[in-house]
Amino acid sequence: MMSTAATLFIQIITFFLFSATVSSSSTPSGGGFSIDLYQRRSSSRISNTQIRSSPYADTVFEKSVYLMKLQIGTPPIEIEAILDTGSQITWTNCFPCNDCIKPLFDPSKSSTYKNKICDGGSPCPFEINYEDRTYSRGTYATETIRIKSTSGKPYVMPGTTIGCSHNSSADFKKPYKPSGVVGLNWGSLSLVSQMGEDMLGLMSYCFSPKGTSKLNFGSNAIVSGDGTVVANMYRKKEAPDYYFLNLDAVSVGKTRIQTLGTPFHASKGNIIIDSGTTVTYLPESYCKKVRIAVEKVVKAERVASSEKDLCYKTNNMDLFPVITMHFQGGADLVMDKYNTFMTSGGEITCLIIISGTSTPIFGNRAQNNFLVGYDPSSQLVSFKPTNCSALWS
Ligand SMILES: *[C@@H]1O[C@H](CO)[C@@H](O)[C@H](O)[C@H]1NC(C)=O
Ligand SMILES: *[C@@H]1O[C@H](CO)[C@@H](O)[C@H](O)[C@H]1NC(C)=O
Repeated sequence: MMSTAATLFIQIITFFLFSATVSSSSTPSGGGFSIDLYQRRSSSRISNTQIRSSPYADTVFEKSVYLMKLQIGTPPIEIEAILDTGSQITWTNCFPCNDCIKPLFDPSKSSTYKNKICDGGSPCPFEINYEDRTYSRGTYATETIRIKSTSGKPYVMPGTTIGCSHNSSADFKKPYKPSGVVGLNWGSLSLVSQMGEDMLGLMSYCFSPKGTSKLNFGSNAIVSGDGTVVANMYRKKEAPDYYFLNLDAVSVGKTRIQTLGTPFHASKGNIIIDSGTTVTYLPESYCKKVRIAVEKVVKAERVASSEKDLCYKTNNMDLFPVITMHFQGGADLVMDKYNTFMTSGGEITCLIIISGTSTPIFGNRAQNNFLVGYDPSSQLVSFKPTNCSALWS
């Protein structure tokens, strides 16, 4: 999709504004089998590429999303923006910004900031609307972005296309909120795509609700070793910028619920993996089967709510079943209770595999405590059960 037109980008990030409380402490156990990643990767491609150091960014958890720290402009200003593998454009609030409490970035004070000029001579406008109804409006520019690197020197990306927003929704305006979004999908303008061919689009992250973590790019983002499983990744013509996986089945305890025979069934991608969405969304017809299976085993008082929510008046995670997600390619992800149930208000626990959104989404909460590696050139996503809060502490 070309950036220089006033196109309406319908993209997906969803804030899930439950006040999440951590209620489970066990780590997921490794499911499925492990394979050596190098056997499936076209290894010649990586060894031919002289990647001397790997870029990385520090990340922090903020309620329901993960924020990536990056520096923008000259002199560099540090911002924190939502790490979003479900969208393309990287943007930040810019001065002047309507109602911004903290518009961190003032383009007039950066020597490397350049507006992108469209036909007619004015700056190219951008407009992004996310699935959760948040939005951003502004103009496109090129600017220098810096993140960290294993070499110890910053990884510098001059001339990176970004959006400079002058009107974004309230969620992006408060001091403790993200000041923008870092787009990391398959599109040519995503930050990882703009890093160039050397990186092969490789990136990895490990999410936990505690402390800081890292987002790795390039050779350091290869996920392998004991317990690693892989899922096939698909690029679909109708939505070419999303990273699609193919969900074959969900098991609730020992009850396996196949997608085969349901409208959800597919062989080349039926769900996107998205770091910018909190919960997991499935189509209602299939999600209902999962809910029914959960209902059958949970012996606790239901909380009357809408028909599509499955909530109980308890915070005892032992009452809930282990859910396994079976992705095509061999990734049978045995979920921790924390990945699939959320306690809010101290004593109400809900299943957070829910129905809704036009595109099914494998959200960030379900990915917690897996080291997740994206490898678009081999079309694989790797998952390695990991205590993410221990990984970089
Ligand atoms: C900001 O954008 C929203 C959504 O398009 C619009 O309703 C609002 O009027 C805009 N505000 C300003 C000050 O331009
Ligand atoms: C994960 O690592 C953290 C930090 O080292 C530690 O406090 C915690 O107990 C670990 N969790 C498990 C389940 O091992």
